[in-house]
Amino acid sequence: MYAWQLHASLPKNTHPTGEKVWEEVLKWEKVELPPLSPGYARVRLLASALNRRDLWIGLGLYPGIRYPAILGSDGCGEVVEVNAPSAQQWIGQKVILNPSLYWGDDERVQSERYEILGMPSRGTFAEYVDVPVENLHLVPSHLTEVEAAAVPLAGLTAYRATFVQGGLKAGEKVFIPGIGGGVALWALQLAVAAGAEVWVASSSESKIATAVQLGAAGGILYTQEGWVQTLLEKAGHFHLIVDGIGGEVFPSYLHLIAPGGRIVVYGATRGNPPMIDLRRLFWKQAHIIGSTMGSPKDFAALLAFIEKTKLRPHVETILPLQAFPAALMQLWTGSQMGKIVLEHSQR
Ligand SMILES: NC(=O)c1ccc[n+]([C@@H]2O[C@H](COP(=O)([O-])OP(=O)(O)OC[C@H]3O[C@@H](n4cnc5c(N)ncnc54)[C@H](OP(=O)(O)O)[C@@H]3O)[C@@H](O)[C@H]2O)c1
Repeated sequence: MYAWQLHASLPKNTHPTGEKVWEEVLKWEKVELPPLSPGYARVRLLASALNRRDLWIGLGLYPGIRYPAILGSDGCGEVVEVNAPSAQQWIGQKVILNPSLYWGDDERVQSERYEILGMPSRGTFAEYVDVPVENLHLVPSHLTEVEAAAVPLAGLTAYRATFVQGGLKAGEKVFIPGIGGGVALWALQLAVAAGAEVWVASSSESKIATAVQLGAAGGILYTQEGWVQTLLEKAGHFHLIVDGIGGEVFPSYLHLIAPGGRIVVYGATRGNPPMIDLRRLFWKQAHIIGSTMGSPKDFAALLAFIEKTKLRPHVETILPLQAFPAALMQLWTGSQMGKIVLEHSQR
């Protein structure tokens, strides 16, 4: 098969602002397909989508990178082969792939063997991908192949952070900072569909406007002086904050959270917070909760929720698979809001 194969990360301090910078390290090339392992299915990919993780690996800023690597955690395709006698019914089915591999039996936390699809295992920026049979799911009936590819990693992370770890209920008030992020946008759509009142923060007026179109009650520019006070005046305190930002923004959550509220952390784009006001934390009886990806049960629940609410992911850009380096560049600029999806044309 042919695949985009990463042979090394970009040299340090290279800004991926031109497609040419990827030429030396990222190649569209022929890769041997090994015999299918027992318990696995082979999927011919119809569409895949990017996540920030793909860029971090390309830049060498991700733990445990192994080369050569075929990246890509999100995919939708058609099952062409199954090496499991009891699962032959999957052959010919259109599927969406759960990118959480080897979660294990404990709903509370992933196993030590846990991996995300697409490095070290071969990922979805390729003609074919092999996944364990239990990671296959039918595509929600109202979604196109492109929309289905936009669901897995960000949708799963947002679902667990918002509902499983965050325990969101209809009528609660939620704050989601950095709404330009893929997970944040999914959290917004899921929380709105669940009947919550959602407020967002962004560096961009137009991203706030898009969030409002998608059902947010309102938003605030976090670049604006005094934004925390302004947000409190507009919205009041929040029952739940779903955060992938961290850094210098994090201490403000202890002002914004309601007594007894929950702050769920799934990322730290801005690094660790400079300091946390522990007195405010314990006086408010607030909870800080970690969340990562999701279990097989979470993925099935996400798909059932999407099916029931007929939710559609916000896809901003559709490119051919051949344009993967250009898509990485677009992700780097941070100008997009919503998923970048790659269409695979080999049919
Ligand atoms: N734990 C997991 O399972 C998991 C899964 C996926 C991602 N993650 C992590 O979660 C984080 C977000 O990932 P992502 O791919 O969804 O988003 P992303 O594409 O990394 O976007 C991050 C967003 O953060 C916002 N931001 C940056 N600086 C900010 C600041 N000072 N204050 C408020 N917002 C700020 C920006 O929003 P605006 O454009 O709106 O300004 C930006 O679009 C990353 O750190 C990622 O590694 C974790």
